[in-house]
Amino acid sequence: MDGPGEQPQAEQDPEVPDIRRPRRVTRRALFGTAAGVAAVAGAAGVGGYAVGNATADDAPPAEPSPTVGRVTPDGFHQPGISTAQQQYACIAAFDVMAPLRDNLIELMRRWTPLATALMRGEPGPERPNRDVADSGVADDLGPANLTMTFGFGPRVFGEEFGLGVTAPTRLAELPAFEGDQLDPRWVGGDVLVQICADDPTVVAHAIREARARVPGIANARWTHYGFLTDPGDGRTPRNLFGQLDGTANPRPGSSDFDEIVWAGADEPDGMRGGSYLVLRKIRMLMPMWDTSTAAEQNAALGRDRHTGAPLSGGTEHTPLDLTRTGDDGRPLIAMDAHVRLAHGAVPMLRRSYNYDNGLALPASAGVPDEGHTHPPGTAPHEHGPARPGMGHWDSGMLFMTYVRDPSTQYVPLQVALSRADRLHSFLQHTGSAVFAIPGAAHDGEFVGQRLLTAAT
Ligand code: HEM
Repeated sequence: MDGPGEQPQAEQDPEVPDIRRPRRVTRRALFGTAAGVAAVAGAAGVGGYAVGNATADDAPPAEPSPTVGRVTPDGFHQPGISTAQQQYACIAAFDVMAPLRDNLIELMRRWTPLATALMRGEPGPERPNRDVADSGVADDLGPANLTMTFGFGPRVFGEEFGLGVTAPTRLAELPAFEGDQLDPRWVGGDVLVQICADDPTVVAHAIREARARVPGIANARWTHYGFLTDPGDGRTPRNLFGQLDGTANPRPGSSDFDEIVWAGADEPDGMRGGSYLVLRKIRMLMPMWDTSTAAEQNAALGRDRHTGAPLSGGTEHTPLDLTRTGDDGRPLIAMDAHVRLAHGAVPMLRRSYNYDNGLALPASAGVPDEGHTHPPGTAPHEHGPARPGMGHWDSGMLFMTYVRDPSTQYVPLQVALSRADRLHSFLQHTGSAVFAIPGAAHDGEFVGQRLLTAAT
């Protein structure tokens, strides 16, 4: 791959002890002195995805580093893709109001400087139509490695918007998959904003500031909040089934990462350094999972749930041996195990988050967890209709994958998983969206400018 994408963006300063557990540095510490402000202003445009950390002291440092707790975009890729995954996220989609083209451009004009400011830990630019600068909810917090990543859904490049530009080559609506139980409230969207940070209040602040800039030009379509606790020491985090999730992910900086993630050279100029995001809201059927035996759980995945080791032997990072059979002559990694099916697919970058909304689904929502057998020793209980006013549990995974081409990387695998994956019997796909993620804005541009305005 050419361009600044060659930069060793994932490399971290060896002095930085742990990129996922930064200590807090407050805005006061960063901006409390004139010298601090000048230093911060001068630091704009530093290359690479450096993720800074605060000092070990709880008290604000006397001379804070201007890059503390910040993700510094490299000017070629948007941040929030190859950036070390932060622990909290809000993923939101907005629909643009008529006049579509003008409002879309206005939206990105407003959001681009907002994102730049918040990622630096500065207050956002003044809100339009209001005499209020900022909600202030994150005043005492640093940027906490905040990233704001933007994308555009297929409708944006359709006739309705009338942009008259070349659409991203590989942007297309996803097909329907077998067994999908999509809730129309959680499908599609014109403009995506993915907000990630190591502090939930910083995330809440950023989405609120983004929303404050849309009245009259766009409507929020859906929002999803997620979390992912980093166990530290480079270990793999767990999903809500308790599985180590992310073992086989490509690593930023590795030889295949660029090929897997970044848009091809045949894409329109605005997609250079860009990617595609597929998001699936996947409800995980916890009662069904929690009343399955360890053997059933491991077989559904093809790995040991606790250690992450393949059932063919070894430890977490041992390659899968799909040919190895047990004493009974059957493959140790079952033919319908999740990792067997997924391993044969074209690789993808997964950057998913757990979500847990508690009793959030209406009692009328279909819950196929009745009728399962309880293992011996389970206390007697029923799975009848939920009590009036109560809902069903809604927790699972905001499955997010960044790919060069959804149609060859995501779609064929999802077709196979929906048909044959044993893990899939514990899942319901309830939300779905796909977005083209443009490359980073050049100086003075808004994000997506070349993609949305270049003449064909
Ligand atoms: C809630 C739903 C899902 C759960 C709980 C889940 C869980 C897991 C786990 C625990 C692993 C093994 C560790 C690892 O390599 O990360 C894995 C691997 C993988 N999963 Fe999923 N997954 C889910 C949905 C999906 C979907 C929808 C796709 C894509 C369509 C997918 C694609 C993959 C891939 C490509 C691998 C790596 C396989 C390999 O090369 O070994 N997963 N998943």
